[in-house]
Formats: sequence, structure tokens, C-alpha cells
Amino acid sequence: MSFTNETEKQKYYIDKCRELIKHKENEYGRKLTACVVTFGCQMNFKDSEKLMGILSQIGYEETEDEHADLVLYNTCTVRENANLKIYGRLGYLSKIKEKNPDMIIGLCGCMMQEEHVVEKLNKSYKFVDLIFGTHNVFLLAELLYERLISGHKVEDIWEGTTEVVEDLPAVRKYSFKSGVNIMYGCNNFCSYCIVPYVRGRERSRNPEDIVEEVKELVANGVVEVMLLGQNVNSYGKTLENPISFAKLLEKVEEVEGLKRIRFMTSHPKDLSDELIKVMAKSKKICKQMHLPLQSGSSRLLKIMNRHYDKEQYLLLIKKLRKAIPDIGITTDIIVGFPGETEDDFLETIDVVKKARYDSAFTFIYSKRSGTPAAKMPDQVPEDVVKDRFNRLLNVVNEISKEKTLKLQGTVQEVLVEEENKKIEGFVSGRLSNNSVVHFKGDVSLIGKLVNVNLKEAKGFYYMGEMVE
Ligand code: SAH
Ligand code: SF4
Ligand code: F3S
Repeated sequence: MSFTNETEKQKYYIDKCRELIKHKENEYGRKLTACVVTFGCQMNFKDSEKLMGILSQIGYEETEDEHADLVLYNTCTVRENANLKIYGRLGYLSKIKEKNPDMIIGLCGCMMQEEHVVEKLNKSYKFVDLIFGTHNVFLLAELLYERLISGHKVEDIWEGTTEVVEDLPAVRKYSFKSGVNIMYGCNNFCSYCIVPYVRGRERSRNPEDIVEEVKELVANGVVEVMLLGQNVNSYGKTLENPISFAKLLEKVEEVEGLKRIRFMTSHPKDLSDELIKVMAKSKKICKQMHLPLQSGSSRLLKIMNRHYDKEQYLLLIKKLRKAIPDIGITTDIIVGFPGETEDDFLETIDVVKKARYDSAFTFIYSKRSGTPAAKMPDQVPEDVVKDRFNRLLNVVNEISKEKTLKLQGTVQEVLVEEENKKIEGFVSGRLSNNSVVHFKGDVSLIGKLVNVNLKEAKGFYYMGEMVE
């Protein structure tokens, strides 16, 4: 067979798989089911939508039950406990497979890009049928076909890629909002982080392709997009016709019918004044900025290879708050990086108090083999890390609570996202600044923008009342 491009080739394999699955359907007298479980970040969630898109075109019915005919774990390896979770769940899956030998178990995503992981799987988890990585997600149909025809385990890990494959199917989890990849990979090599090793070098998509995708999403009912990249602020720098992230935002803003734009993640070192200006005047870009700090100690930031110091970071916060007064700012912080002293830690606390985050994701440093930090001396003792972690959390929570109080009693625009799981007759949605609000309403509101009075601030969320 010869194909003019990769997408065409994969469509061919989707058809071939569909034939095989049809046979099975006839044999079983029912539809086959597939369950894709996602671990990790928004990138993985987006990849999973593509994986499910391929599987549903092949003829699998989507299910959340892991007693399925095909189970695919899309893995994360950013911290050690992400890995441990996978090994634990694989044990559970093997029991299900014992009862259904025809079941296909697949693993993909970031963890598979590590040699020692694949070695371990081959040695101790022989029941796994399909292993592939982050660079060849689009190959699912081809790999599955090979597995179905051969009856043998199929393993295909790429070390990297320069390719960006467009136009494959996707099944979206939400009808009204969607992630949109604007770039893949990361070039920053923060010394603690494994992502550049498992996601490869930075590659930006063409702005035309991104805008096209957003238009198509809007035509299909999407009102909010989240532009995704490990460092969106360096978007476009390596394109043939370089373009800034701020310019891309302006192009996306022009898409008619689109109501809200979010993006993730911003690296402080590349956050430009141009971006702040574009955000300040935009009608669609949400008043929200996720700006990972990692540490407040300039000494540690240097060793972390972050390319900014405490003062530069605080200056950014100041500029953001000045230009966009009610902006919600969130962050990521690592506690217990090798060599972190009490003084370093107090610098982090100081930044938290000055930046006044709406919320912060706090992580205990996890040693990732292959990263420079893994070889650094002075790994901080566990009890010291735990103590610092708890102290940090207290400060973070206290400030979050105070921040939510500020909007209590005001009326804000809310995008309704889902039925409330705990209170019957209630729905939940998000403000522009990404805070969550619960209020009385029914499912017909899902995907709609409504005005809600934030009656009561509850720490991390609000209880509200819809106003006409
Ligand atoms: N590209 C994003 C971060 C992606 S990873 C950025 O640069 O901001 C998400 C978060 O996981 C990071 O911000 C960091 O706080 C945390 N993280 C990454 N590696 C880690 C490690 N080895 N131990 C603990 N936390 C880590
Ligand atoms: Fe990891 Fe740093 Fe890249 Fe973020 S910017 S993914 S923390 S290496
Ligand atoms: Fe995890 Fe990979 Fe994302 S390691 S955080 S899923 S890029």
C-alpha cells in the first residue's frame, strides 16, 4: 500500500481494525467496549481524546468500566507516585484479564518513554498487549491491527519526532469546552523535571492549523478552549514564520462564536509585556494565569534551571495585577528540592504571601532518574520535607480563603460545566478566574454562560444563585 500522508495511512488501519472488530461483534453478539484511563496533565487528557476517537471509529463503545474488551492506560511519570499507581492498577487489571483472556491491555504515554519502565513491564507484566509512547499516539490503529492479526504483544516506542500529525478523529469529553494543543514537548530542562525527556523537543503547530481547529470546535458547540503547551509563552519561536504567543491569542480571539480562551502553562521566564497587554484588552481571554513558581529562593531557582529569580517573578505578578486587577493567579511549588535549606523555604513562603495566589498546587520533590537533580547531593530528609510541606499548605490555604471572600456577594459570569455530583438539582461551573461555583439549576444549562450571584465563599469555591 502507498499513502500520500500519515493521516491517510492511519485511516486505512482504522478501516482494517473495524473489519476485525465487526467479526468479534458477530461472534460475541454484542458491541466491544474500550476504556481509556488518563493519568497526568492536560496534554495526556488531550491525547486520550485522540486515542478514544480512533477507538470509537474502529467500532469500540466507550466505557469507564475497566472490565472492558480493551483497556488503555495513558500514563504519567512526572513524580514517582504516578508510576507506582500504574503498577498497582496493572495488578488489578491482570485479575480481570484472567477471566477474559481476549481482553487487550495497552499502555502508552510518558512512562513508556523510559527504558527501565518498559524493561520492567516486559519482565514482570507479560500480560500487557500493547506498548507505545508519547510520540506515536496517532499510530494506535496500526499497532492495534498488528496486535489483533499476530496475537503477539506489540511494542513501539519512538525516541523523538519532528512530525505533527493533523486531522485524526477525537472524542471530546465535554461538548462545550476543549483543549487545543498549540505545541508539543519542552526545551527547558528544569533540573528536576522528566517531561523534556519523555515528551521530546519543543514543536509548535502552525497558527493556521490551530485557528482552523478552534473554528471547527466552535462549529461543533465549543465555547471555551484551553490552549495547551508546557511553555506556551515560547510558542511559535521555531516556526518557519515565527509568531508570538500573544499574536496567536489575537488570532484565536477573532474566531466568531468562541466565548472563552484559557491557556496552560506559562513559564515566567518567557512571559512578555505583549502578552499582558493582549490579555488586558481581550474580551475572551479569561482572567486567569497559572504561573509556576517552583521555589521562592533565587539560589534554588538557579539550580533548578528556571532562568528567573525571586524579584523578577514578583515583578511579573505586580505587572499582571496592575494590568488585569481581578486576575486569578495560581501556581505550582516544589518542596524539598535537593539542598533546600530552611532559609530557601522561607523565601518560598515569602513569595506566596506577596503573590497571594488564588490557589497553589504543592508538590513534594520526587527524584526522577535521568534528571540532573537526581544526582545532586543533600537530598532533604523526609520528615523535614513533610513539615515544610504542611507549613506551606497552611499559608496557601489561608490566603486562598481570603481571596475567595473578595468576590463574595458579587455577580459573575459562569460557564456551567456539569451536574453537581453531591447536591441534587444543582449544577457547577467556573468563573473567568477559574474559581468553581455551585448553584441551583438543571442540566439544560450545561455549556451556557449565565450570571450568578456568589452568595457564599466556602474557601475554595462558592455557593451561588443564578440571576436572570
Ligand atoms: N511545564 C510546566 C510544568 C509541567 S509539570 C511548567 O514549567 O510550569 C507540572 C508540575 O509538576 C511542575 O510545575 C512542578 O511543580 C511539578 N514537578 C515536576 N517535576 C517534579 C518533580 N520531580 N518532583 C516534584 N514535582 C515536580
Ligand atoms: Fe518540566 Fe520545566 Fe519543561 Fe515545565 S518547563 S515541563 S517544569 S522542564
Ligand atoms: Fe505527566 Fe507527561 Fe504530563 S509526565 S505531567 S503526563 S507531560
